[in-house]
Amino acid sequence: MIVAIDGPAASGKGTLARRLAEHFELRHLDTGLTYRAVAAALLAKGLPLGDEGVAIEIAQNLDLAHVDKTVLSAHEIGEAASRIAVLGGLREELVRLQKDFAAAPPGAVLDGRDIGTVVCPDATVKLFVTASPEARAERRTAEMVSKGQEAEYASVLEDLKRRDERDSQRTVAPMKQADDAHLLDTTEMDIETAFQAAVDIVSQACNA
Ligand code: DC
Repeated sequence: MIVAIDGPAASGKGTLARRLAEHFELRHLDTGLTYRAVAAALLAKGLPLGDEGVAIEIAQNLDLAHVDKTVLSAHEIGEAASRIAVLGGLREELVRLQKDFAAAPPGAVLDGRDIGTVVCPDATVKLFVTASPEARAERRTAEMVSKGQEAEYASVLEDLKRRDERDSQRTVAPMKQADDAHLLDTTEMDIETAFQAAVDIVSQACNA
């Protein structure tokens, strides 16, 4: 069983993916972390984000078990990840890793931007999770403030819009709702309501 979840930044897809994996006893991969890990390694080496040869080498040696989520959650790393995500050869390498993860039993929940379209086109069920840019910016601002980070709603909103633009306009594997994905718009939902809606969609797809 494979659950594919796509959607823009701060739509709630990450939390939903983690909770669905727990609920259905599946493994979970946040594929954004794979792009973030490569971006962070390039930054740490002081190399330009366009150096695809080195980026591919880093991707080939990526150890998913030792990826440090806390360090990778930094805002600058998300930006850098979105920039390197336009590199076709790098994507091929990361997609290979993600497909291998998805194929191992008992199945998995993967979340990202191109899971339903490229990584797992034959997934058991696909969700495209979205919310208005304003709702996402409010959530992201509150989340950053709760972690003691500085965050200003207006600039968070601008950043999100810029990231959406870059992720959905790139030529290779742009963020896109798959034709057979269920749309889950969480603008008016709290996380519990969104989770219940997601569980219902996945359960129905499994019983179909
Ligand atoms: O979901 P995130 O914020 O951790 O993702 C960081 C960036 O990585 C995102 O802006 C675009 C890229 N990404 C991608 O291109 N494809 C994926 N499947 C996941 C992330």
